[in-house]
Amino acid sequence: MRVRVLGAGIVGLVVADELVRRGHSVEVVDPAPVSGASFAAAGMLSPAAEVWWGEEEVLRLGFDSLEQWPALAERCGVRLDTGGTLLVGHDAGDLQEVARQADLLARLGREVVPLEPRALREREPALGRVAGGVLLPGEGSVDPRAVSAALLHALADRVVPAPTSPCEVSVVATGSALPEPWSSLVRGVRGEVLRLRGDDAPRGVVRGWVAGEPIYLVPRGDGRVVVGATTEEHAGGPVVTAGGVVRLLAGARTLWPAADRAEFVEATARDRPATPDGLPLVGPSGVDGVLLAAGHHRHGVLLAPLTAQLVADHLEHGLVDPALDPRRFAAHDHPTPVEPSPSGDVPQ
Ligand code: GLY
Repeated sequence: MRVRVLGAGIVGLVVADELVRRGHSVEVVDPAPVSGASFAAAGMLSPAAEVWWGEEEVLRLGFDSLEQWPALAERCGVRLDTGGTLLVGHDAGDLQEVARQADLLARLGREVVPLEPRALREREPALGRVAGGVLLPGEGSVDPRAVSAALLHALADRVVPAPTSPCEVSVVATGSALPEPWSSLVRGVRGEVLRLRGDDAPRGVVRGWVAGEPIYLVPRGDGRVVVGATTEEHAGGPVVTAGGVVRLLAGARTLWPAADRAEFVEATARDRPATPDGLPLVGPSGVDGVLLAAGHHRHGVLLAPLTAQLVADHLEHGLVDPALDPRRFAAHDHPTPVEPSPSGDVPQ
């Protein structure tokens, strides 16, 4: 098929890569590739560390997509960290948050390894004083900028600033800036992140609570560390705020005291594309010939390979994951109810 992907963020690029691999003719249209949420993203591949009550479906999708990351990272020639996420609490109240999340994960049948402070520090010597924590095995991170650069290189002149040829299908992957009539399905949730570079960086991803504030540290394995992230519903543009920087630095320094000596490389703010139910929009848009692959909120990097598979499977076999079907927000438009098959997929 001749497919036009609108948006060269990590979702659009991974979708395009998958479609090219499956033999389709692809054009990716974006006047400013990788300038949205993908540019800010830390690249956590941490479905369990990012889950919260009411988001169980994201966990299922996240683990499905995580399985696809090793092959994608290898194709891109980028480093993949799968050493696990440490979920830590700085004080007793923070540890309660960790315990609540561990409890949720245990109920959902996910592996959680409790660690005493001493065991935590043995595993992560750079860690500051913490009350305790758990290890979430198998999770990790990838550098979204490195992945995007590799995919832009591989897609080469298929990536263009404006459409050049007719297409049979369009895939809208423009994150939090959806065109009409879908714009109201996604709202921007500002996230600010910092990029530091220092000696004695953490070895793996650390997600923690410090005095009630969530924070994460995502090391790249070469001294670079991404510190994230603020989360704020707002009406204005995604600017870096003084308060955001102060909060992130304070939390980072508590969990990683050597942050004090780190070089401050960058502060970035972008909008995460959030949907009303917290799940992405992947599949038929309700308009013939237009698919959506957007609204991934906190999980764009993690869910990119699964999204690509779902888009390609829809184009080739008509499959749709009902949980992600963009038409769920216009249920009255469905002529017949969608019945999931045992595999979770439904022919359309
Ligand atoms: N997944 C990281 C974030 O949204 O901040």
